[in-house]
Amino acid sequence: MSSLFDNHGRPVNYVRLAITDRCNLRCAYCMPEEGINFGPRSTLLQYEEMLRLLRILAGMGVEKVRITGGEPFVRRDVMDLFQGMAAIKGIKKIALTTNGTLTRAHLPALWALGVRQINLSLDTLDRDRFAQITRRDEFDAVWSTFRAMVEQKFEVKINVVLLQGRNDMDIIPFVKLTQHMPIGVRFIEEMPFNGGETSQGKLFWDWKRIESAIHAEFPRMRKIPDPPHSTALNYRIPGFAGSVGIIPAYSRTFCGTCNRLRITPQGLLKTCLYDQGVFNIRDLMRAGATDAEIKTALLDAIGNRAKDGFEAEQRRLGGFPARESMTTIGG
Ligand code: 5AD
Ligand code: SF4
Repeated sequence: MSSLFDNHGRPVNYVRLAITDRCNLRCAYCMPEEGINFGPRSTLLQYEEMLRLLRILAGMGVEKVRITGGEPFVRRDVMDLFQGMAAIKGIKKIALTTNGTLTRAHLPALWALGVRQINLSLDTLDRDRFAQITRRDEFDAVWSTFRAMVEQKFEVKINVVLLQGRNDMDIIPFVKLTQHMPIGVRFIEEMPFNGGETSQGKLFWDWKRIESAIHAEFPRMRKIPDPPHSTALNYRIPGFAGSVGIIPAYSRTFCGTCNRLRITPQGLLKTCLYDQGVFNIRDLMRAGATDAEIKTALLDAIGNRAKDGFEAEQRRLGGFPARESMTTIGG
């Protein structure tokens, strides 16, 4: 059990650490073709700084870390970081979100360090549509990583961001993939964090529309209980090996049980996906703060969380939607 609670009585025991804002893909919902304004490398948290932060957080009650980005594996020597994390007392789960382009060779080492949960960002099962959405021809590499992950018995969840007219024809094939494979497929509402890429306008594929589309094809699909703190609505089709999830990332129906913190590649602490950042941990560390001082700053922030993503959005000074990208927020 977590010993850390926020000002709304929610346990906080999970941190998502974005270790780089760089990526070797250019998903349309994430960033423009030319990329975003990547921070200079010197502004990135160093691995030693991350490990120090995680030791402090673990001492406060954080038990789970997810490494995300950008694409984690475009940063050098990532496995050193995983090795350091595996040695931290109190961190019971280390999870990974990756686009799968560079991940395959690292799978055995990840497993050996205790990593079990991997979320794979894969928006289509079609090579051409993949190239259109990500602007890179990497489908084959990602698919081979996916197969290896399943073979090596990782708990795999595929994240599918739904884009009208671009991958909605993949909804049913993705659901069918769960028939024989013990994986989760999660359909995600598109959020307006795309680094200034032209917005799609009003959200078409909201969670209700996604649910109806799947239900129309699989009338026997049933809602199953959601694990605690899940951001997904979870479903199962009788006889299928895997499960289906829908993440109302834009509708934000899951905030009441939110247990997570986010750290951006530049060391900014976010207590909500939709906030603009609370304070910069890197600056505090580089100014010579002690562990106790960092802990106090973290406790202050956790004691002042917005109750949901709408309140966090309202509190922003710069207005909304922002020119942010999930790669700087920490998907
Ligand atoms: N809306 C919804 N999900 C997004 N992701 C990235 N950008 C967006 C967006 N604008 C998702 C990716 C990945 C995870 C890290 O965040 O699909 O799986
Ligand atoms: Fe890269 Fe993920 Fe952004 Fe796609 S969504 S460009 S894989 S960081």
